[in-house]
Order: sequence, then structure tokens, then C-alpha cells
Amino acid sequence: MHAAVVTAFDGPPRYQEFPDPHARSDDEQVVEVVAAGLHPRVRSQADGSHYTSTDELPLIPGIDGVVRGPDDRLRYVILEDTTRGTLAERTLLPRGRSIELPAAVDPVRVAAAMNPAMSSWVALRRRIDFRPGQSVAILGATGNAGRMAVQVAKWLGAAAVIGAGRDITALEELRHLGADEVVTLDQLGHAANVDVVIDYLWGEPAGTAMVDMITARAERSRPISWIQIGSVAGPTAPIASAALRASCLQVVGSGIGSVPGRDWLDELPQLVAAIAAGELDVRARAVPLADVEEAWADAGDSRDRIVLVP
Ligand SMILES: NC(=O)c1ccc[n+]([C@@H]2O[C@H](COP(=O)([O-])OP(=O)(O)OC[C@H]3O[C@@H](n4cnc5c(N)ncnc54)[C@H](OP(=O)(O)O)[C@@H]3O)[C@@H](O)[C@H]2O)c1
Repeated sequence: MHAAVVTAFDGPPRYQEFPDPHARSDDEQVVEVVAAGLHPRVRSQADGSHYTSTDELPLIPGIDGVVRGPDDRLRYVILEDTTRGTLAERTLLPRGRSIELPAAVDPVRVAAAMNPAMSSWVALRRRIDFRPGQSVAILGATGNAGRMAVQVAKWLGAAAVIGAGRDITALEELRHLGADEVVTLDQLGHAANVDVVIDYLWGEPAGTAMVDMITARAERSRPISWIQIGSVAGPTAPIASAALRASCLQVVGSGIGSVPGRDWLDELPQLVAAIAAGELDVRARAVPLADVEEAWADAGDSRDRIVLVP
């Protein structure tokens, strides 16, 4: 078969021949890959920088995607940590890691949307006690996951959603998706009274935002949940001790590992239904898997989520 293969961590994957996968037990089966998203997590897997990286090469990256099984049905799968990912013509589907998709669904939209959308969906539904009527600020709201978070928070009943980021033009577009207010990162004092922060940035911006928001908060003892989801601005953040003492701030993380795998899967069908019904705005761009090297080079500049199609 053909696959996107990483043979060294300092270069992009190359489209080349690779041995077909073989099921090693009844708990897995070989499936055809239909579409797989080029998410930030896939990039960090491919360059060896993700914290789960084992340095094992060669590696086929790809953490999720839409696959077609021997029964000809489409499924969305989230793979376990593996060196045989979804950027290939075929991969191994482990038992209990996928859900069946409606027959009429667009595989490219699903492959583009599930990873960014589920980040806020699972965070709000499984990591905190989020209630309709609460208010939410989103740090890094202009990315794929942030744009989804604006829509997901509204979908789950948020009374007010504030999108925060660094690109003013992209921030303004969030109003069409339901954002009630948009602010740049140095204006986060305006979001001081929210109940929940969904943070895709971390790094120095999160540390600064925490101090700005806690300082400007009207009632400091009112609980605020800070959900750490992404780290595009840095893997560690300088958190001021006073921010934790001077307020009722609770910091939690959300991602694979923080929620049992079964719970993740239980959340996915509703999300698929919303995507299939066109209720979430999805930015997707299908690219042939054979062009993976070129896609790698321009993925950083595009606001559309690239989806590789074998
Ligand atoms: N834990 C989970 O379940 C989960 C799931 C999905 C994603 N994630 C993580 O969430 C993060 C975002 O994912 P994504 O899909 O939204 O990525 P994306 O589409 O590539 O968007 C990244 C966004 O981050 C912003 N950004 C990058 N560097 C920045 C910096 N130094 N300061 C401020 N903003 C910066 C960019 O803002 P501009 O608009 O200004 O360029 C861009 O909009 C990634 O770390 C990803 O791994 C986690």
C-alpha cells in the first residue's frame, strides 16, 4: 500500500510504499482509510515533539479519521498511540475505538471537524460541571478548535461566549458563529467575569491572561474553571501563585487520557449528528494523500483543516 511515512523527525512525511498492516488478533481489523485530518497533534506526532512520542521510526502519522470496514460501512476512529496511523491507504482498527457513521455523511467534513470539535465538547461535558446559562471565554478562538468551541459552547447553552485571540480580522468573523464579544489577548480584563475559560494557548499568554482576569474579576470568590486543552503558545505556563489564592480558580486539563475512552466514544454520536446536519461550520480542504509533502508545508498558513484522502 501507499502511506505518508516519517523516517526522520526533522523532515515531512514522504508518500511511499509501505507494507500492508495485518491484524494480530480478533481485537483488530484491517480497514481502508477514507479521510484523515492533518491536526496539530498529527504534526507533533510526526516531528517527535508530542509527549507520547517514543522515537520509534519509521512512523505513519495520523491519530483519527474516517475508515471503511470489510462490511462496507463508514466509521470514525480514534486510534491508540501507534506508529501505524491513518495517513495511509489502510490501517488497523482496534475494537472499541470507533463509531459507525450515517451512510450519507461527508467523510472529509467529519475528518476535519471531529478532533477540533470534540476538544471543547468533551471538556464542557466531561471535565467540569458546565451548566446552560454560564459564560465562556475561549483563548485561541481563531483556530479550528477555537472556532468550534464558540459554536459548541453556544450549542450546549452558554449565555455568553467571548472569543480571544491575536488576529483581529479572524476574531471579527467569530461573531457570525455566535460569539457575543471578541477581544485581543491584552483585553482579557473584559472577560474577567466568565464562569469558564477554554484555553488552547497555554504558555506565557495563559499566565498573563490569568492574572489580568483574576485582577479584574468583580467577585473573586465566584468559581471560575480554566480548562487547559491546547498549548500552541508553549508547553508550560507561568502561573502566578496569587492567581490561585486570590480567587476561586480551578485549573483542569482535557484531552485523551483525562477522560475514559468509553466516555469519549459515548460523546461522539451527538457530535457527528451535528456535523452531518450542517449545524457546525466546518472549514475543510481535501488534499490527495500523494501530496502530503506539499500539504505539510502549507498547513501552517491555512485556516482550513487539511484532510488527506488516499
Ligand atoms: N486536548 C484535546 O482534546 C485537543 C483536541 C484538539 C486540539 N487540541 C489542541 O488545541 C490547540 C489548537 O488546535 P487547533 O486545531 O485549533 O489548531 P489550529 O487550527 O492550527 O489553530 C491554532 C491557533 O492558535 C493560534 N496561535 C498559534 N500560536 C499562537 C501564539 N503564540 N499566541 C497566540 N495564538 C497563537 C493561531 O492564531 P492566529 O489566528 O492568530 O494565527 C491559530 O488560530 C493545539 O495545541 C491542539 O493540539 C487539543
